[in-house]
Amino acid sequence: MIRNKLVVANWKMNFTVPEALKFIAQFQHNIKAVPPAVEVVIAPSFTALYPVLEILSETEIKVAAQNMHWEEEGAFTGEVAAPFLQDLCVPYVILGHSERRQYFGETDAMIQKKIAAAFEHQLIPIFCVGETEGEREGGKTFSVLERQISAGISGLQKKNLATLVIAYEPVWAIGTGKTAKPSDVQEVLRFLREQIREEGTRLLYGGSVNPEKARALASQPEVDGFLVGSASLQPDSFADIVRTMV
Ligand code: PGA
Repeated sequence: MIRNKLVVANWKMNFTVPEALKFIAQFQHNIKAVPPAVEVVIAPSFTALYPVLEILSETEIKVAAQNMHWEEEGAFTGEVAAPFLQDLCVPYVILGHSERRQYFGETDAMIQKKIAAAFEHQLIPIFCVGETEGEREGGKTFSVLERQISAGISGLQKKNLATLVIAYEPVWAIGTGKTAKPSDVQEVLRFLREQIREEGTRLLYGGSVNPEKARALASQPEVDGFLVGSASLQPDSFADIVRTMV
C-alpha cells in the first residue's frame, strides 16, 4: 500500500507571530515547492495559528494544532476545543505528546477522548506514543506501546483508523540529541502496524530528528515521515528533512 509521506514541524512553545511568518518566508524560499506525495505540516502555537493558516492558505503546506480539549465547549479556562479548530479549517492536531503526558498529567484515557473528539470534528490526530528511558531499560518498551495504542484507538471506526497518524517518539530521544537506531525504529513501527492491523495509518518517527538522522531513517520501509521538534525551528534544516522523504 502506498501511503503519502508526512513531515510535521512541532514548534512547541516557540515563535511569536512575526517570528512564525519570518520562518515561513524562509522555508518557502528554501523548499521552493513541496515535493509531490509528501505532506508538510506546521504546528505553531495557538496565538500564531490563524496568521499561519492565512499565509499558507494558497500553498501546499498544512497546519496542525499542538493540543486540544475533548469537550466541545464550556468552563475549561485556558483550553481550546475541537469545534474552534474545525472552524478555522485546521486539518491536523497533535495529541498525547509526551510533554503533555509528563508536565500536564495527560493520561491514556484523556488522550483516547481527545482522539475521538478530533474525528468527530474532521480533525486528523497525530497521536504520539513512546516509552521513557526507564521503561526501555526495564524491557517494557513493547508493553508500554501496546497499552498506549490500545487505549488511544479504542472505539475508533476502521475508516478513522486508516486516516490516523501515529508518531513513535521515544521519550528518551526527545530534545536530547539521542535518536533511536534505524533498525530499532523499524522494529517498533512494525510492532505498531501489527497492533493496529490497518495499512493506511501513517507511522512517523520523532526524537532529535535532524537532516542527517532523517536520511538514515528514511530508508526504513515502515517510516512514513517525521515529527520534528528542535530542527523544525530552522528553515534550512526542516527543508532538508522534508527532502529526505522524496
Ligand atoms: P525533538 O522534539 O525533535 O526536539 O526531539 C520532537 C518532538 O517532541 O516532537
